[in-house]
Amino acid sequence: MAKKLLIVIDGPAGAGKSTVARILAKKLGYRYLDTGATYRVVALKAEQEGITPEMTEELRRLCAEIEIKFEEAEQGQRVYCDGRDVTEAIRTPEISMLASKISQQRVVREAMTQLQRRVGGPGVVAEGRDMGTVVFPQADVKFYLDATPQERGRRRYRELLARGISADLSQVIEETIKRDQEDQNRKVAPLQMAQGAFYIDSTGMSPEEVVQKMLAEISKRGGNGAGDGGK
Ligand code: DC
Repeated sequence: MAKKLLIVIDGPAGAGKSTVARILAKKLGYRYLDTGATYRVVALKAEQEGITPEMTEELRRLCAEIEIKFEEAEQGQRVYCDGRDVTEAIRTPEISMLASKISQQRVVREAMTQLQRRVGGPGVVAEGRDMGTVVFPQADVKFYLDATPQERGRRRYRELLARGISADLSQVIEETIKRDQEDQNRKVAPLQMAQGAFYIDSTGMSPEEVVQKMLAEISKRGGNGAGDGGK
């Protein structure tokens, strides 16, 4: 039997992290941890309660009280906030922007880091912005998934349309670039490539091709990756 590994994937918005992490987790029989969703849930609840990103004390209380849960369903993973299904509600462009802003707050990052460490461990594929640098620096395999802003914008645009959310392509590309800047330049846990991370540029690659590249790398590090049949 191959030993269970903790695999992390970091990278900018729209690089394909969620799609690839989901496929990879399924192939390996691992759990998938979508850490962006935790920030999105906090953003959604803050918006509903009229709490803005600057209201640190209110955010501290919100993070202490909030209950975030993931559940595997036939159609994919569902996300719950205080028992309510918010899977779709957290994916709007407004919540994307607000999540990026709110994730700059130290109180929010500390609370989410704790939550993510409680659910992450061997046998998990965790995906986000600071997995390999802050939350799980001890991860067995670290990936940094990238793509050009234009390609990432196009993917986000198609994703929104598929969800029935109308959008404007050039605006989505613009928002992607703006979100990159926010994520890379924030003071706490900015988006950076972790030391020892394996860099993949997914521009022009299908999710399956990216997953195959990852499996080859995982097998080198002792996991049950491509073609080793388990070590
Ligand atoms: O991956 P995503 O688009 O669902 O993430 C939403 C926002 O949450 C993103 O703009 C930055 C933030 N985020 C973060 O700061 N750290 C993470 N590990 C994951 C997401």
